[in-house]
This record gives sequence, C-alpha cells and structure tokens, in this order.
Amino acid sequence: MLDKVLVATTNRGKLREFREIFSQYGIEIISLDDMEQKISVEEDRKTFLENAVKKAKTYGDFYNMPVIAEDAGLEVEALGGYPGVYSARFYSIDFGGKEEINRDKDEANINKLLRLLKDKKNRKARFVSIVVFYSPENTGIWTEGYCYGTIAEKPVGDKGFGYDPIFIPEGYNRTMAQLEPEEKNRISHRGKAVRKLIEILNKLSFQI
Ligand code: IMP
Repeated sequence: MLDKVLVATTNRGKLREFREIFSQYGIEIISLDDMEQKISVEEDRKTFLENAVKKAKTYGDFYNMPVIAEDAGLEVEALGGYPGVYSARFYSIDFGGKEEINRDKDEANINKLLRLLKDKKNRKARFVSIVVFYSPENTGIWTEGYCYGTIAEKPVGDKGFGYDPIFIPEGYNRTMAQLEPEEKNRISHRGKAVRKLIEILNKLSFQI
C-alpha cells in the first residue's frame, strides 16, 4: 500500500498540481523542501526521460522511499523543439540570444520565446511531461503525457506557472493561465502522465 510519496521538485507550481491531481487518492505528497538532509541533482541530460530517471533514482536511493520525479517542458515546432529540456532556463542559454531577468525567470523565458517567434506563422507547440515512479528495491515505471496547442501573441492570465500565459490549448480560445486548476489538470500533459501512472500502479497492486 502506497501512503506517502516524495515528489522530487521544489517548483511550487508543479508541486501544487501534483497535490491537486493526487488529492482524491489519499496519498500524502511530500516535497524536497520537507526533507531535512538536502542533496541536489543536476538536470544535465539531453532528454526528459533521462533527467527524470536520474532524479527519481538519486532521490529514491538517498532517502530510501518511493519517489515521483517529473521532467517537463515546452516544445515549439518552429524552433525545432526548443526550449524542450531547457525550458526552465531557456532565458539563459545561447540558443537565440540570452534574455535579461527583470521580474522573474518565467517572464524572461516567455519574453525570449515571443521574441524568437515574432513574425513566425507556425506557432504550434506542445507541453511534454515524463513522469518516473521509483520505489527502491521494488519497481520503476515511467509514463508520458502531452498537451498540444499554439503560442499566443502576448501573455494573458495569472493562473498556473511557467509558459502557461502564452500557451493556448487546442480547442480553447483562452491561455492555460486563464483556466481553473481542475480544468488545466484535466487536459494537461502532467495530468495525463500522472493518471496513466496511477492506473499502472493500481494494476501492480500498489492499491492507490
Ligand atoms: P523542470 O522542472 O526541469 O521539469 O522544468 C520544467 C519547466 O518547463 C518549468 O520551469 C516551466 O518553465 C516549463 N513547464 C513545465 N510544465 C509546465 C506547465 O504545466 N505550464 C507551464 N510551463 C511548464
């Protein structure tokens, strides 16, 4: 029986969404901020899956408890899949010139993306979430979730986090940052990946 799991993140937006998605299953979610002993894991791999596996294994073995680790990001078609695994620090990488931080990193990332897409007709993009569950000496599982959409001309909305203010999900005329949390979780890459994971854990009799 799984009653407590460490979600290996310090990203508050992500953590809030994991808690919301798991709330109906009665599993306690703790985060890296709750752990007394701190270790850091560099996300230096070239794919979402490799980064997520690295985080899950390192934290799971260190704290000796079940871990869920996610690596997520935004892939923009006209930019050949960038920012991709660099989504969190897109503002600072060489691709397309660096961007100054005025308010916060999310805003700098968004400004850079809008600058690179200026005058581009193709604004197709997708959010990707790769979720890894790792239980030391027991099992390792990974799932994926995608959310397709387009990049808006300017940021709108104050919900969610990251690139949400400029992402318009397919079938909507509002940005992800204008959606209520339940609605975002229903259609989001993260919601889809986590629900797949829960289905598999149930089949493996983890009894969520
Ligand atoms: P990670 O912590 O390495 O997975 O970084 C993910 C980065 O991708 C975040 O810092 C955001 O910039 C972006 N991202 C991932 N998921 C979302 C989402 O649901 N909405 C908006 N941005 C996201």
